[in-house]
Amino acid sequence: MLKGKPFVKWAGGKRQIIDKLKKYVPNDFNTYYEPFVGGGALLFELSPKRAVINDSNQELMNVYECIKDAKKFEAMCRELNHHEKEHSQEYYYQIRNLDRDKKSFNKLADYKRAARTIYLNKACFNGLYRVNSKNEFNVPFGKKNKVNTYEGQNLGIICGFLNYNDIKLLSTDFEEAVQDAKKGDFIYFDPPYDSDSSTFNSYTENGFGKEEQKRLARVFKELSAKGCYVMLSNHNTKLINELYKDFNIHIIEAKRSINSDGTKRGNVKEVIITNFEKEDLDFK
Ligand SMILES: C[S@@+](CC[C@H](N)C(=O)[O-])C[C@H]1O[C@@H](n2cnc3c(N)ncnc32)[C@H](O)[C@@H]1O
Repeated sequence: MLKGKPFVKWAGGKRQIIDKLKKYVPNDFNTYYEPFVGGGALLFELSPKRAVINDSNQELMNVYECIKDAKKFEAMCRELNHHEKEHSQEYYYQIRNLDRDKKSFNKLADYKRAARTIYLNKACFNGLYRVNSKNEFNVPFGKKNKVNTYEGQNLGIICGFLNYNDIKLLSTDFEEAVQDAKKGDFIYFDPPYDSDSSTFNSYTENGFGKEEQKRLARVFKELSAKGCYVMLSNHNTKLINELYKDFNIHIIEAKRSINSDGTKRGNVKEVIITNFEKEDLDFK
């Protein structure tokens, strides 16, 4: 089976540590939930038959919606080809600034907004997604002469995956996204990272602070009590170690290339937390 791969570069993307992550995935589960899906590295790697995927970033989830819908998909691909042809610094800022006028931006067709999101991701500085307090995309031009936005084969594979399987797309808060999870389902949480100091973790206009990490830990425990398999990635911080001390904490090294502060790029310690040990599951 051909597998898709992330169609956007996303902060915290899990492509580099996908093999380490996969080691902890249970061999067997019912529905797969990924409530902070971002670029969907693990989603595509596992390509499950039944899944609920979610991200509070509506522009991002609109892209998934458009790839799933045959008509919108075709129109989005045409639009991507157009962006590639027209690409320049001036064109980038013209497309980026479409969200400055909320009235006309809200009237834009879904497929146009989706193509804009992919184009900006490929053409902006370092593939960051960052909006200001008015929800305006504000990443500067990435200075590339050419961008490859239309990865036809990959988008086609993702379109097939979303259509030939039972994949539900949501754009809401993580807690609501997992409310229907049942015993035997597998939930992978990849939230915005916690940090001991303050580093880049403002993905949306709201950010994701310590209180959100605590709320997430509560949801993790509730799902665990229901009999779900739960796995979570985060940085190896004091708070995370404290919040998940009753679970299995596996420390891994990860290379990070997206950070708003260039000096903080490099190897960082991350954790993969599970409410199960895979060896125990395999004996069942
Ligand atoms: C670390 S990224 C996920 C990376 C992703 N798993 C990947 O491999 O590319 C975290 C995501 O959480 C989303 N997010 C932030 N707050 C959220 C919330 N309260 N509920 C759901 N999603 C949220 C962000 O939009 C961002 O895409």
